[in-house]
Amino acid sequence: MTTQATQAAAAPTKSRKKASQEPATAAAAAAPVEQQASPQWVHFDGFACFGIERMRGAKILGLSEPSVFTPAKDPTYKWPIDNLRDLLHFYMAGGNAFCAMGHPGTGKTMGVQQFHASLNLPLLSMSANPRTQAYHLIGRLVPNKDGGVSWVDGPVLMAARLGMSVLIDEYNVIDPGEMTGLNLLLEGRPYLVPETGELVVPRHGFRVYATCNPKDDKGLVQGRHTQDNANDERFEFSWFGYLPQEIEVQLITEMIAPYQPSLPANVLAEKFVAVANQVRKLYAGVTDDSGALDKTISTRVLRRWVSKAMSASTQGSLVESPMHYGLERAWSLSCSDEVRVAVHELVTQTFGGGDYKSSKDNLHTMQPAGA
Ligand SMILES: Nc1ncnc2c1ncn2[C@@H]1O[C@H](COP(=O)(O)OP(=O)(O)OP(=O)(O)O)[C@@H](O)[C@H]1O
Ligand SMILES: [Mg+2]
Repeated sequence: MTTQATQAAAAPTKSRKKASQEPATAAAAAAPVEQQASPQWVHFDGFACFGIERMRGAKILGLSEPSVFTPAKDPTYKWPIDNLRDLLHFYMAGGNAFCAMGHPGTGKTMGVQQFHASLNLPLLSMSANPRTQAYHLIGRLVPNKDGGVSWVDGPVLMAARLGMSVLIDEYNVIDPGEMTGLNLLLEGRPYLVPETGELVVPRHGFRVYATCNPKDDKGLVQGRHTQDNANDERFEFSWFGYLPQEIEVQLITEMIAPYQPSLPANVLAEKFVAVANQVRKLYAGVTDDSGALDKTISTRVLRRWVSKAMSASTQGSLVESPMHYGLERAWSLSCSDEVRVAVHELVTQTFGGGDYKSSKDNLHTMQPAGA
């Protein structure tokens, strides 16, 4: 049975490559609408796709419509240019394996997803854990209703069969020994399924994406393995850092604006981003300073802080110091007391207002206001 997903995943054949905003072939164009294969390969304009002025006029092959496996487009997403460049070159050169590396919450998973969303490409996703084994990725025999066994593809083999992308999140928590089984597929080479004798030849369009937090010797992220060199060699890499300041300020300004704060939204946004960047500089993941912080404010945490602080700023929220309140709930209650107090001091210096009073210092929960 041909599903929407398999159509979407179909390889861009030579005739498809010629496609622009029109259907790929004259025959397809002449066919009644209901007979036309959908979606079709089309050329998108780089600016229309990614909103980057410098990409205006660039032609990028994508699908005319999303499929059920295409990630949803997030209108708040801001492209980190370096990573977009890396993702694009990998895609256009027909690369096989791409690894997005970076500290937690810097947008690795979202970057891969939004790239596929922008071009309407299907993406199978799976999240790895320390117990993930090769068969979870490639497939296995399972009992069938006739009392025998049938082969069921794992996401990587399924993507190879269909000619589509697969994302393995948290790739380096997997035991390196399990990953060597993937080496052939990571090069886009045919894979012989030992259990069935079937030779699966990856279709054009098959790509493996992995995301990894860097392994460090300070124990900041736990349980990351060094994959073996042979496995590493099959990937190309992109480092996901934090967004450039002006882009992050724009992101946060857009989040703040609907709350109509008393200060201009961009002024407030600059303060949030200034605190985050200060903390990032002191994070042990980027500095060898012995007094470095063991936690950082990622884009994920920053967004959560802003949304908590802004909703706490609204009338009737029962919150005295929205910035402190927001940061505690979004992040700092999970930090050591030393780090928490130091970062809240920075918040007081940046935003002004009263001193920081932590909810941790209250033996009892607060009295209801006015009681
Ligand atoms: N470029 C961006 N534009 C807008 N929001 C972003 C961006 N990058 C990250 N975010 C925000 O940060 C959150 C975390 O992003 P994501 O899950 O991609 O991080 P990650 O690097 O994969 O983290 P982890 O290492 O923990 O898996 C997103 O849900 C989003 O809210
Ligand atoms: Mg991730």
